[in-house]
Amino acid sequence: MTNFKMNIDKLRLPLLGKEATIKRKKNCMTQCLRNWIPTRLFPHRISNLKILILAVLIVVLIIIPIYYYRLSQFDLKYININYSFHRSTRPTPNIRCSMINGPRLPQNHDHKTEARLRSDPKVLVFVETMYSKLGKDIAELLVHTRIKYKIEVAGKSVPVLTSLDKGKYGVIVFENLNKYLQMDKWNRELLDKYCREYFVGIIGFINPSEETLVGAELKGFPIFIHTNIQLKDAALNAASQILRLTRPGETVWGPLPGDDWTIFQANHSTYEPLEWAHKIDDYGHEGLMKTPLTTIVQDHGLFDNIQRVIFGSGLKFWLHRLLFLDSLSYLSHGQLSLSLERKFLIDIDDIFVGDKGTRIKPEDVSAMLSTQRRIQNMVPGFKFNLGFSGKYYQHGNPDEDKGDDLILENIDEFRWFSHMWNHQQPHLYDNLTQLIDDMNLNKNFAKEKGIPFDSGYSVSPHHSGVYPAHELLYTAWKRVWNIRVTSTEEYPHLRPARLRRGFIHRNIMVLPRQTCGLFTHTIYIDKYPGGRDKLDESIQGGELFQTIVYNPINIFMTHMSNYGNDRLALYTFESVIKFLQCWTNIKLSSDTPLQLAESYFKLYPEETDPIWGNPCDDPKHQKIWSKNKSCDSLPKFLVIGPQKTGTTALYTFLSIHPSIASNLPSTETFEEIQFFNANNYYKGLDWYMNFFPVDVNSSRYMFEKSATYFDGDLVPKRVHALLPHTKLVTILISPAKRAYSWYQHIKAHGDTIANNYSFHQVITAGDTAPKPLRELRNRCLNPGKYSQHLERWLTYFPPQQLHIIDGEILKSNPIEVMDELQKFLKITPQFNYTGHLRYDEKKKFYCQVLNGERTKCLGKSKGRHYPPMEEKSLKLLQRYYLSHNTALVKLLKRIGMRNVPQWLQDDLTDSPT
Ligand code: A3P
Repeated sequence: MTNFKMNIDKLRLPLLGKEATIKRKKNCMTQCLRNWIPTRLFPHRISNLKILILAVLIVVLIIIPIYYYRLSQFDLKYININYSFHRSTRPTPNIRCSMINGPRLPQNHDHKTEARLRSDPKVLVFVETMYSKLGKDIAELLVHTRIKYKIEVAGKSVPVLTSLDKGKYGVIVFENLNKYLQMDKWNRELLDKYCREYFVGIIGFINPSEETLVGAELKGFPIFIHTNIQLKDAALNAASQILRLTRPGETVWGPLPGDDWTIFQANHSTYEPLEWAHKIDDYGHEGLMKTPLTTIVQDHGLFDNIQRVIFGSGLKFWLHRLLFLDSLSYLSHGQLSLSLERKFLIDIDDIFVGDKGTRIKPEDVSAMLSTQRRIQNMVPGFKFNLGFSGKYYQHGNPDEDKGDDLILENIDEFRWFSHMWNHQQPHLYDNLTQLIDDMNLNKNFAKEKGIPFDSGYSVSPHHSGVYPAHELLYTAWKRVWNIRVTSTEEYPHLRPARLRRGFIHRNIMVLPRQTCGLFTHTIYIDKYPGGRDKLDESIQGGELFQTIVYNPINIFMTHMSNYGNDRLALYTFESVIKFLQCWTNIKLSSDTPLQLAESYFKLYPEETDPIWGNPCDDPKHQKIWSKNKSCDSLPKFLVIGPQKTGTTALYTFLSIHPSIASNLPSTETFEEIQFFNANNYYKGLDWYMNFFPVDVNSSRYMFEKSATYFDGDLVPKRVHALLPHTKLVTILISPAKRAYSWYQHIKAHGDTIANNYSFHQVITAGDTAPKPLRELRNRCLNPGKYSQHLERWLTYFPPQQLHIIDGEILKSNPIEVMDELQKFLKITPQFNYTGHLRYDEKKKFYCQVLNGERTKCLGKSKGRHYPPMEEKSLKLLQRYYLSHNTALVKLLKRIGMRNVPQWLQDDLTDSPT
């Protein structure tokens, strides 16, 4: 506690008035600058100019000569390099950072305290509107770092903050702090009370205002703001306890983005600066140091017992993204801390592929090796991961062919993986044997050259065949190379990159892959799209830097051409690693792809299951999808169940329709495919599509009926991913009646539990009953909780895509039901069912009319004869379903269903209370 106080006193914010001017001369920036030079060597006052001259002399006379001497020694070990070939524009990875070898974060530094156990690891973000820019930036950052959050529009009432005796949110964020300051008394007290009781902190941003404020008080707090300022040269308070991911000590030189920064002045010891900067036109004077202005301030909670971090600008400035993450970690007492470990792999996808003149030469190979050594010092275990396509070995000019040879002379220096022999895209193969043969050519090449081929990793040219999955590729990979891991940028989509994920298909782990801004054609720095500044911006705090900060496991894609010419990959990666070392406490390391994949799925086990999307919804996916496949091989509507409501009758009636076609029958589950709810999903999209052969001569409406879809937890999400525009048809009858029919159904199918226990015993089985009985009870009762299941469907689909059929009317008047259904499906011309369905006196159901005379009814298993349900069971179930049925009435009204079914009204009125 004493130390804590000392820090605050030492670093108190600049005070107001005359005293402040004097104190500012001794400000911390001065201290920071002077710290560069050991005071023992220079005990007297040194002017800024002298410091600058001294620093320049050190760099020119000592550091640069040593650097070049070492560089040449290193490279010459591998090859006699003619430096006159060195392109004058080729960039060198010199990151300006005097801190790079300075002290690092002490071990085990984290923000963890007991207080973190009081709330869940989730952030509550109050935004101005659902579309406001900073709010979006905050949400995107949270998505990228996979931190859970909830968005609320500020100004409305505060959402429920607790669940039992736990807080629901570990940190509260205000996109616009003013919304917090202006909150009505009731809500403000509620929120503040929550923060105090659950030790939850607040992050707030001062939003740019049109009016320029000078020394305006932050309502109710002893702190004052000046707005709309242009700033430069940001530096951090190295003593701040917030810093964890971010490493202080260096200065971000130059103008800061935007001209609407807010700075803070305070006169209370609760405030401590976290970041400083200078006015853009503050050049300082001889003897007088420049005035640092506080741009982010920490409130230690000494004023009102709530800890806060207040940002004087949004997240446009890259450093603020790091500081925002650190503030989340600090204010949540370590609940929302990102790990500091980052794994890192650089693939060179096509080491022998490239046009003459763009390939690597011997001197490029030795530069690769020397850069690799330097990276190894910063990233333990690092080796470039080389993908080979043997067919193109030695396809360059004579010098480039020597480059290929030098690569092979250094086989052991690198990791290796197989690409396709001829760099052909696997989705273009429709013949497994051909694909296997081509893979074997590459394998023979590897054997001949001594290239290891047991990494279990492969990457497909242009991501073809990985996602959307081309099953032949998965089969061939396993047979030829025993592939266990691959990576792609395409799952679920290339963009936005923050949403890229992994999945496992047929035991092959697919990892998300990151882009580094280099492509096959980016070979010269002066031709880099957007210019060199663009690449440097990405390295120094921009996209590439942030990708590594946010992703615990990074696999980057590069190409051979990025290592020749201006060697932009070497420049980019060495620079970004240095920049990371300078500005973060991140610990980089590397591993084999197999180990990376294992770590990945340990971190994110929820990603194991794939989600199959529609390849035709993404032009990039369509390009890497077999021409023989068609999105016409997908249903236009689904009959989703639930079971025992008349789904087979509806299926049969639909099949009579001349413009409607159902799927081919399954050998295991007959008319039902049961793709979205069961293990069939893991068989992949090709498997599903094979049930819907495209008939070029007719454009019939294809549909599928699987009655188990209705209550499957994952089904709506999966259906939506593949068929977002599909129409959904469900049939509802009394849930009590449905449960009884289901029991009779499985009993007739010889289920031993159902045969050993009466219906009443099943539905009354308690939590101490044998497990199989409890499971049967759940399977019997759960589908009848209609409102719950429909709500899940409605979170993915708008009500306009959902059609609800009253199962009792389907029984009594199927012609009317079919007319309505055709209207919903917009099928024209309408088919008149009148002559095609007839009531069968014997069966007591409507059946299909054959040849105008005979009728064909459903089999014995439909419309069975069994004793009526016991009254006590009916009453019990009506009570059991009461709340669900009440919720169902509300739901039906909400989605515009005019008539509440009679059976629902009866169940509700008959239900004992
Ligand atoms: P019961 O067999 O309990 O009478 P599903 O096809 O979804 O499994 O539903 C079977 C139920 O459909 C039957 O339950 C029956 O009540 C109902 N049904 C509705 N119309 C029917 C028809 N035309 N023929 C047979 N059963 C029909």
